[in-house]
Amino acid sequence: MESNPTLRSRAWFGRTDQLGFIHRSWIKNQGHPDHMFDGRPVIGICNTWSELTPCNAHFRILAEMVKRGVYEAGGFPLEFPVMSLGEPIMRPTTMLYRNLVSMDVEESIRANPLDGVVILAGCDKTTPATLMGAASVDLPTIVVSGGPMLNGKYRGRDIGSGTDVWKFTDDVRAGRMSMEEYLEAESCMSRSDGHCMTMGTASTMACMVEALGLTLPSGAAIPAADSRRKRLAHLAGNRIVEMVREGLTLSKILTREAFENAIRVNAAIGGSSNFVVHLLALAGRVGVPLSLDDFDRLGSHLPLLVNLMPSGQYLMEDFYYAGGLPVVIHELRELLHMDALTVTGKSVAENLASPGATVCYNREVIATLDKPFQREAGLAVLRGNLCEDGAIIKPSAASPELLRHRGRAVVFESIEDYHARIDDPDLEVDRDSVLVLKYVGPRGYPGMPEVGNMGLPKKLLEQGVKDMVRISDGRMSGTAFGTVVLHVAPESAVGGTLALVENGDPIELDVPNRRLHLDVPEEELARRRAAWRPPVTPYTERGYARLYVEHVLQANQGADFDFLVGKSGAFIPRDSH
Ligand code: FES
Ligand code: MG
Repeated sequence: MESNPTLRSRAWFGRTDQLGFIHRSWIKNQGHPDHMFDGRPVIGICNTWSELTPCNAHFRILAEMVKRGVYEAGGFPLEFPVMSLGEPIMRPTTMLYRNLVSMDVEESIRANPLDGVVILAGCDKTTPATLMGAASVDLPTIVVSGGPMLNGKYRGRDIGSGTDVWKFTDDVRAGRMSMEEYLEAESCMSRSDGHCMTMGTASTMACMVEALGLTLPSGAAIPAADSRRKRLAHLAGNRIVEMVREGLTLSKILTREAFENAIRVNAAIGGSSNFVVHLLALAGRVGVPLSLDDFDRLGSHLPLLVNLMPSGQYLMEDFYYAGGLPVVIHELRELLHMDALTVTGKSVAENLASPGATVCYNREVIATLDKPFQREAGLAVLRGNLCEDGAIIKPSAASPELLRHRGRAVVFESIEDYHARIDDPDLEVDRDSVLVLKYVGPRGYPGMPEVGNMGLPKKLLEQGVKDMVRISDGRMSGTAFGTVVLHVAPESAVGGTLALVENGDPIELDVPNRRLHLDVPEEELARRRAAWRPPVTPYTERGYARLYVEHVLQANQGADFDFLVGKSGAFIPRDSH
């Protein structure tokens, strides 16, 4: 076994003084023999396992598979926990804690004798949070996603995480589904290990990781319950040890080209709108210039190649059996930087070179470039007096007839106000109204929750209305759909024009021309602006939430903390004793 004096773990384990004794001796209480400290690469397994993060609840076994691979390749694996973020459980929103987890990950890696890192991530925010933290250290790093759940099965048909929840809920409110059926569907939807199996945020993040070159090929789509997921974890354990020996750090892979690839792939798969804030934040950590406009310029004119909910009808399990992301990347090859480097040490093109790697087994699920499911799929970035710093919409999940729309605002001043009034029979609203929700941005909520896809008024649902234009400074679940304008910046809580909208104001949405306009005279807006007072954001008197509201950037900058942008690298901190 080599003793590599350049490994940072040698600053702990390679010493013969008292501190070397301390660093080794306590670790040996777990039964590790002397030769584990002989200079082999020490690999941290960053585990977001938690029973409160159901999508990541199977990660202890996955970590064991990674360890097999690390030992086999001559490394020394040490697993460590970080804070986990369970999307369906945490309040007020997991997004509030994404930056906190990134700090946990960054400091945990740097403070410890690690030479390389394997990230185990799955549920929505666990992927960007861990990656942002790892990027600010910049060691060799590979991601193992936990994999999607098996398809939901309800009364003879496939149902998708999230997407069918929104549909069932509307059905109950419109009287089309009984409470008994609704409760039965719960158990039918989430019936195996894994994360949401729609093309929601978790699957989007897994695809982002694969498109960025940060996971072994096929890493995005293998179901959590498929034994090939464990095999992938084992192989990732092999590979990270080699990556340390090669000095293949994260920043060598996270280039501008990799980010452009991720944007294009995200468009073609109909990925979540949440992709935008997370990719912007990640780019900020590694110093790659990336702006909101890049998403529109690079992605919005790409066709939809993947027929998965919420934009389509299939689920991640079908996607894997159809060939998964390598097939999509191959279809897009003329549009991607195929020479971009990946964690395999090879380029994107080289990764696809093995026989059969790009064969599509089901054209109902993955289309060709010339016969796509939709012509234009990517996220559109809107501008106008209602969103000077931008807003986004996912046209593939919207109603075509609403993409150009003028309607009168029905304003909700908070999420509580919305819940209290949305089903009021006297609410002045019709199918042409534009629902506006304020104070759900990063600073305003706090944490920019997924409330942007507000459910429609009951009385309109009963009339058969299925979609309306909705606008907010919040986000929406990647599993959701509808003509929903999100991430309005600047947000209402910092005095963005959104804060000034009043009931009855005409609003114009024009997605083809990328415009969102509040049709109120400038003098009137100036009058309202002068009278506006910022609302009090709950929970922010002390503690983490206070840090959050004092430092969070706006959505168009990825909602990272101002002081976390950039990286400090993998320096070795001062002696501890
Ligand atoms: Fe965890 Fe959807 S709730 S991925
Ligand atoms: Mg979500």
